[in-house]
Amino acid sequence: MTYNEKDQHYKRFTVTSALPYANGPVHIGHLAGVYVPADVYVRYLRAQGEDVMFIGGSDEHGVPITIKARKEGVTPQDIVDRYHKIIKDSFAELGISFDIYSRTSSPEHHETAAAYFKKLYDEGKFVEKVSMQYYDEEAQQFLADRYITGTCPHCGNEHAYGDQCEACGTSLNATDLINPKSTLSGNPPVMRETKHWYLPLDQDEPWLREWILEQHKGDWKTNVYGQCKSWIDAGLQPRAVTRDLDWGVKVPIEGTDGKVLYVWFDAPIGYISFTKQLKGNDWEKWWKDKDTKLVHFIGKDNIVFHCIIFPAMLKADGSYILPANVPANEFLNLEGDKISTSRNWAVWLHEYLRDFPGKQDVLRYTLCSNAPETKDNDFTWKDFQLKNNSELVAILGNFVNRTLVLTHKFYGGKVPARGPLPEMEQEVVKEMATFPERIGRSIEVYRFREALAEMMNLARLGNKYLTDREPWKLIKTDPELTATVMNLSLQICANLAVLCAPFLPFTADKMHRIMNLPAMGWKDAGRADLLMEGHQIDKPELLFEQIDDATIEAQVNKLLETKRQNELNAWTPNAVKETVAFDDFGKMDIRVGTVLECSKVPKADKLLQFKIEDGMGTRTIVSGIAKFYPEPEKLVGMQVCFIANFAPRKLKGVESQGMILSAEDKDGRLVLVTPSQLVTPGCNVG
Ligand code: 2FM
Ligand code: ZN
Repeated sequence: MTYNEKDQHYKRFTVTSALPYANGPVHIGHLAGVYVPADVYVRYLRAQGEDVMFIGGSDEHGVPITIKARKEGVTPQDIVDRYHKIIKDSFAELGISFDIYSRTSSPEHHETAAAYFKKLYDEGKFVEKVSMQYYDEEAQQFLADRYITGTCPHCGNEHAYGDQCEACGTSLNATDLINPKSTLSGNPPVMRETKHWYLPLDQDEPWLREWILEQHKGDWKTNVYGQCKSWIDAGLQPRAVTRDLDWGVKVPIEGTDGKVLYVWFDAPIGYISFTKQLKGNDWEKWWKDKDTKLVHFIGKDNIVFHCIIFPAMLKADGSYILPANVPANEFLNLEGDKISTSRNWAVWLHEYLRDFPGKQDVLRYTLCSNAPETKDNDFTWKDFQLKNNSELVAILGNFVNRTLVLTHKFYGGKVPARGPLPEMEQEVVKEMATFPERIGRSIEVYRFREALAEMMNLARLGNKYLTDREPWKLIKTDPELTATVMNLSLQICANLAVLCAPFLPFTADKMHRIMNLPAMGWKDAGRADLLMEGHQIDKPELLFEQIDDATIEAQVNKLLETKRQNELNAWTPNAVKETVAFDDFGKMDIRVGTVLECSKVPKADKLLQFKIEDGMGTRTIVSGIAKFYPEPEKLVGMQVCFIANFAPRKLKGVESQGMILSAEDKDGRLVLVTPSQLVTPGCNVG
């Protein structure tokens, strides 16, 4: 590694990826933001021969998990057991190559997190404070974080949580909320006294300022640096690290029943406790040796916790290293809308794996090439199809396939001998040699999109070379040069097998298998002699297949259905109007009539003109429902309800003698109200 932060040389790498909450499956936003880039990074490091520890696991505490359990009538443990398995299995299937994927409900984690807290407590690193906090008298429970909702004082969002407003992103205290309400009983909470322990972040400000804003200026990403700067400049406040809850790591102090560690205190300790769980491993070297580079891969909503709070916890202990970098990504949207677990607006990894078996690399490729590295980005199914068909199939797959097919056709699958290199070949060899460094440099500075694009440029180089030389024609006139061209093309394929591996590990394995390649590292790449003359290559197989329109349409339709469901769920009936006296109601003369004629009012898009038999004769009524009844003649014979004593009025030149009743559905559609059986025209409704 040459291009790492400040060019310092490290002996080993501890790479962590944010622990996903085990209250739902993992979606493409998580993958593009955190897990795909982290996996590319560690696969690259391993290919470089570096000593790497890649840590992942489920975050199984926190209020949303208890709320979900309560809603479903199961225990929080049931919830986390369910999702931990889904998440762990789907990560494994996508090839996210954790050294360990553990969970924070494990006894080992509880022990480590409690001991971590206890040490800081014993050393007086916390501030103990009694304060008034919200309490739900009916549920007999303090209302931590998401157990309370109310109006955000910053943006007016009426559904802000006690710890954060998701509309404007502001981090809140429950007491900041306007009109607070308990999510347990729906009641306004009362204030009660409770004792908690606080990390005095205000005291950390000077070293944090120096460490982040001075030392890491220029090597931390702009978005990360900017967020840290605004937190520090706003003045850091002491932060409570305990909660009144019964789900979490118990506070390891006598007499603190009903109190647990704040989820954001215990979760990052998970990185440490999971490292410890790897048997036979000297865990301390990964966390305490100055020659270890610690890198946290996270999403932007986790920046403050990984850049300020967790480092303050590590510093408070005193024996730990601090992260060298925290390459946080922005968010990925889906078809133009924010991804949301609660609105089911997501592409879930486990569903993708079910719907697209064997296509792990297509998703890895799409998400990496579209990773929200510097700004929020959008995933669309059309783009997914395009990336597969026009890039993976048409560029990488096509080059490798053409080379392997011709090798079989001309040489029975054996690598042909290479003759002296003409100028064009010398140029290709020279250019190929630059790729490992170009790709590696981008990866080392966390520019994964750029790195991936470089890798594809090598396949492009191969395609251009084949197109320029046309070996399928050349074989007839110059078999010697053809052998050189094919030898070189095969060397490019072997290089691609090494250089695509961090991004496309399944494809790399397939290429290794087909080409009978030995295990190779990054340092082997760039060379034009990876394959010896006579080396046997197996029968070619396609690396990628086209994805057709019907497959994409099915996914788009699934999302449209979700949207429809969400709209349905979001609808609530109008509030009931002011109470009216019986006599007032009695003033309305509502009757049933039979439609004798019905037609559109000329020059009025919205209006239908009805001729109604009302028992006393006929009357004309104009109604604004034309849009919903495109074939008005079909209404003839139907019975409708109308207000008979409505003052007559002229609509587009037609006098309307009453008003026909219709129901307005949630989507604004008007539907005529009709009696459930035929009745005598003119009879009253009441
Ligand atoms: O935002 C989240 O999904 C958190 N569960 C991330 C935790 S990361 C770490 F600190 F454990
Ligand atoms: Zn807000």
